[in-house]
Amino acid sequence: MPRSSIFPLLAVTAGFASMLSVAQASDDNSAVPGVEKSTFGQLPDGRTVDVYRLTNASGITMRVINYGGIIVSLKAPDAQGNFEDIVLGFDSLEGYLSDAYRKANPYFGALIGRYGNRIAGGEFSLNGTTYQLATNDGSNHLHGGDQGFDEVLWNAKPFENQNGVGVILSYTSPDGEEGYPGKLKTEVTYTLTDSDELDIAYRATTTKPTPVNLTQHSYFNLDGEGSGSILDHYLMINAEAFTPVDDTLIPTGEIRPVDGTPFDFNEPTPIGERIEQDNQQLLRGKGYDHNFVLKREAPQSEELVLAARVWEPDSGRLLEVETTEPGLQFYSGNFLDGSLSGKQGSAYEHRSGFALETQHFPDSPNQETFPSTILNPGETYQSHTVYRFSTRDGL
Ligand code: GLA
Repeated sequence: MPRSSIFPLLAVTAGFASMLSVAQASDDNSAVPGVEKSTFGQLPDGRTVDVYRLTNASGITMRVINYGGIIVSLKAPDAQGNFEDIVLGFDSLEGYLSDAYRKANPYFGALIGRYGNRIAGGEFSLNGTTYQLATNDGSNHLHGGDQGFDEVLWNAKPFENQNGVGVILSYTSPDGEEGYPGKLKTEVTYTLTDSDELDIAYRATTTKPTPVNLTQHSYFNLDGEGSGSILDHYLMINAEAFTPVDDTLIPTGEIRPVDGTPFDFNEPTPIGERIEQDNQQLLRGKGYDHNFVLKREAPQSEELVLAARVWEPDSGRLLEVETTEPGLQFYSGNFLDGSLSGKQGSAYEHRSGFALETQHFPDSPNQETFPSTILNPGETYQSHTVYRFSTRDGL
């Protein structure tokens, strides 16, 4: 059935989303292309959290909530055409608000801001002023602080355009929020394309110079969430170097070649093949939890470049990641410990999901040799990442 059967297409200006009225969610699980909105739950202060179910032309469905911009599910076919949910998360808002969840703080599926990953000591200086941010990860600042963009309620506008279906999330972070200077207007567009991609476009503007480094923190398990370890997934990362870390996971400033190390993923390699090696960086990360320096023909170019490819042999599912960002955090789910149970009730054990977070390098505000993360008034922060889903018999 064409998508327009549930949403009559409005006149579409080339390249721009057309805003559509949103169908209310039906009870059935049919794969009619379009967007359906329903209520997901209520925050303790009474505000309603909505869930948007996006369905593309091939029947891939993704559910997004306006709390944290969290992707709560993503169902994609395996090589036999069986759809399974391949992201970790919960079916109810309580899952994301529980004490156990907040204690573990895995950031399942969430938008991360204002700064993805760590800032040393939660401190940085800009134009002669020193700013102190929350230290919510030992002595460091992580993923935006005590209440990052993963825990705020975003405005959501669903849309349909010639590429697929999606939702535009917007949030204005007040001047001084979590210690950051400037009022930051942020907009994130999720598009589930008819080419089976999750396309994420980030934009932000500020009233004062401020660091910005937005990312998405979905955990994938291409054999299905809750199906166990991800160590058998084959991973390729398009990087000749990574940024080693100290024992609090802050980059030392070195750009180290991956050649001859367990960080060389130029050839597709099972994630688990070298993860237990006696390697100082793996020990510090408790596995992989490192920023990779993506290979580009022109290092300063902001073109989309292939960042990573992940293939799971049993299901045949393949995930490809492209980005305009210079870095990719590969996190092998080392902090998952079975204390949280997901959508099918199965515990999320150690390394049962992995994240590929496109980003600028961690701690850039304190590292002069890293690409700058400072956004100035009058400029527009723009970042673009594509996660593409397909299947393949072998690599
Ligand atoms: C990022 C960090 C990790 C961890 C996870 C969430 O990947 O680098 O150390 O905080 O997020 O648990």
